[in-house]
Amino acid sequence: MAKENTKKNSNYISIKESRKILKYNIQQMKYYEKLKQQKRDESEYITRMKDPNNIIEIENLKTCFFTDNGTVMSVNGVSFSIPKNKIVGVVGESGCGKSVTSLSIMQLVQAPQGQIIGGEIRFNDEKLGYFEDGSKKAYDITKMPTKEIHKIRGEDITMIFQEPMTSLNPVFTIGNQLDEVSFIHNKDMSKEEVKKHSIEMLTKVGISMPEHVYESYPHELSGGMRQRVMIAMALAGSPKLIIADEPTTALDVTIQAQILELLKDLQKQVGCSIMLITHDLGVIAEMADEVVVMYAGRVIEKGTVQEIFHNPLHPYTIGLQKSKPLITSNSNEPLYSIPGQVPSLINLPDHCYFKNRCIKCTEKCSGKYPKLVQVTDTHYVSCYLYEKKGGKLSG
Ligand SMILES: Nc1ncnc2c1ncn2[C@@H]1O[C@H](COP(=O)(O)OP(=O)(O)OP(=O)(O)O)[C@@H](O)[C@H]1O
Ligand code: SF4
Ligand SMILES: [Mg+2]
Repeated sequence: MAKENTKKNSNYISIKESRKILKYNIQQMKYYEKLKQQKRDESEYITRMKDPNNIIEIENLKTCFFTDNGTVMSVNGVSFSIPKNKIVGVVGESGCGKSVTSLSIMQLVQAPQGQIIGGEIRFNDEKLGYFEDGSKKAYDITKMPTKEIHKIRGEDITMIFQEPMTSLNPVFTIGNQLDEVSFIHNKDMSKEEVKKHSIEMLTKVGISMPEHVYESYPHELSGGMRQRVMIAMALAGSPKLIIADEPTTALDVTIQAQILELLKDLQKQVGCSIMLITHDLGVIAEMADEVVVMYAGRVIEKGTVQEIFHNPLHPYTIGLQKSKPLITSNSNEPLYSIPGQVPSLINLPDHCYFKNRCIKCTEKCSGKYPKLVQVTDTHYVSCYLYEKKGGKLSG
């Protein structure tokens, strides 16, 4: 009996189980890969926006990885929207599914192990027009065949990554790489016009001596300059949404502030939306209009930046706020850290995933996974403390 318990609590997988997982993985990966390659009529991946003022609506998105240890539910029923011309910050501990959510929007999840297995990602493409009933047409990215995603990826939706050196090709000059992107978006331009456009983009992102940088190789630039080049590339095709995944984590604090300021200015100038992924709550407070807090592949709280900062509700969000260093705090005080660890994303039980770390946990918390409760028009939280009783909040 004791032996059995140890087995259950460890990550031990028997050969029989391992074979079973492998068989299941192959079957699932084949199924989803086939779906992506299938020819589809546009009507099969056109859907309608719930609110035409949003650029992206993610609803019940499920993205997983079929691994040798089992199915990792990296994104497990995530729903949130990104309004037009707004910055939405996504925060959460390492491994909570922020990057996988953004890669799902771009259809760039590492296949064949990584697959979107459910939900919708509605992209509000202006070019699509309206249905007869007046509702706005949108692409459902989760159902778009791989061939069709190029219609929007890199043009309407672009991405800025954490480490620009890995995104820039070391053997080509900045000019070469920028020209290529400028040319993709402006196919009628001559070579000279493309160069002029690239230099204009470098000037726009605050690079002094843009002609010199145009001729340079990536290794000749500082980290901050490289990140500016990446922003120039992301902006080259006047995107509707920029996904910035930890865009300043690799930079020092002063450069970080400059890059964030630049992103915010450009976002206003160009009139696009930004999905800003970061660990840094300070960055979110400075930049974002709305905030999504993720935990173990789920959205546990979302609201406007004022709501999340002035009235955080979920014990995890409250913990995150407390673990932020403050200038006013006594320097001898140790920084608060949330005790415990994020659970493994394989075979998660159907109760609150924060339960083993929560100081406010009650008996009720052993029940089913808590529903997302609406607290105000814009503020939602998934926690039993705020369950509605007779239409009233209990929290
Ligand atoms: N290629 C992969 N194969 C297997 N599991 C993966 C893969 N990529 C991501 N995962 C798993 O998916 C989960 C979510 O990962 P993700 O990269 O989205 O986290 P994150 O929130 O972006 O973390 P970080 O802040 O460290 O960047 C993690 O548990 C991770 O282990
Ligand atoms: S549901 Fe319970 S365990 Fe989960 S965060 Fe809320 S109080 Fe804590
Ligand atoms: Mg990440």
